[in-house]
Amino acid sequence: MKVTVVTAAQSQAGHRSVIIECIMAKYLVTGAAGFIGSSLVRALLERGEQVRGIDNFSTGKRENLTEVLHRMDFREADILDLDAMHQACDGVDYVLHQAAIPSVPKSVIDPLGSNRANVDGTVNVLIAARDAKVKRVVYAASSSAYGDTPTLPKHEAMSPNPISPYAVAKLASELYMVSFYRCYGLETVCLRYFNIFGPRQDPSSPYSGVLAKFSMQMLRGEQPTIFGDGETSRDFTFIDNAVSANLLACVAPAAECAGRVFNCATGRRITLNETFAALKPLTGYKGAAKYGPERSGDIKHSLADITLAQKHLGYKVLVNFEDGLRRTVEWYKSQGQPVAV
Ligand code: UD1
Repeated sequence: MKVTVVTAAQSQAGHRSVIIECIMAKYLVTGAAGFIGSSLVRALLERGEQVRGIDNFSTGKRENLTEVLHRMDFREADILDLDAMHQACDGVDYVLHQAAIPSVPKSVIDPLGSNRANVDGTVNVLIAARDAKVKRVVYAASSSAYGDTPTLPKHEAMSPNPISPYAVAKLASELYMVSFYRCYGLETVCLRYFNIFGPRQDPSSPYSGVLAKFSMQMLRGEQPTIFGDGETSRDFTFIDNAVSANLLACVAPAAECAGRVFNCATGRRITLNETFAALKPLTGYKGAAKYGPERSGDIKHSLADITLAQKHLGYKVLVNFEDGLRRTVEWYKSQGQPVAV
């Protein structure tokens, strides 16, 4: 719904009336200019929803929103700014909280910065959402909370065992989500993301996700480095699956999901050696991979049990690893990335 507001002060001053068109946002996406946030924005707009987004561009990029910016209410704001968060939550029904510093190694270098963005920021979002009487907050939690527990697949009833400061921060925020449900009745749902990948994931930072990084390097004909022996495995999850999990988490009955935590994944794990092999024909890269030391804070294997999300959210894996990888590489190619010869 669009509401046209003419402020009294402007009318009395005899100036030509300044008309402010406020879009009554239904969804607020934090981290809207990031890889996952901007994908959520697009999916919501495609469904005809009203979308407000905030981002401080610490890792997000304006280009991720270029062609949809005019269709949404975008505000450059930091989740650490509580006033801005109160304004952002005003009139909102659902908050999809994606804003974070999403990096394990970065948190090892700067635990305080990670804690500020990933914990303090979340508490601000929750306070603002509670005060604005938002219906539900869906949170981008992380599978890193499981840590290096040998049991596979990881299911939600397992005790968390976080290793990196990032994993600790993400887990602390999850607990805050649950706490706000228990203490204030604010409906919250946590989705533990397992290595989400896809178009618009930034490939250019040393902290970039491995599939984005490898895709870009191999398209350029550059040799990728596998940290460790290559048998490290992840439940790589294509972005469309994560988007659908978020949308389902907004509408699932509260009795099924409020105050709860769900894995968001595919239930299948792929090793780094396998990802490299799968990327070779897609990118045209002919060389071998380089092997380097394991990265500090890393976990060895990650694989999700997705039964709980299937049962309570109606979640389904929409796109498998191979199709997702093909679509991802196609997207990087479409961005004018040189192809390896
Ligand atoms: C990722 C996410 C994190 C999320 C977590 C759980 C990113 C950047 N991080 O962490 O937000 O919470 O999944 O879903 O998406 N690797 C290489 N070579 C490289 C880069 C990485 O071998 O050049 C290896 C890493 O050492 C690691 C694996 O690839 O073993 C995956 O790394 P990465 O993509 O950074 O993801 P996670 O650390 O698993």
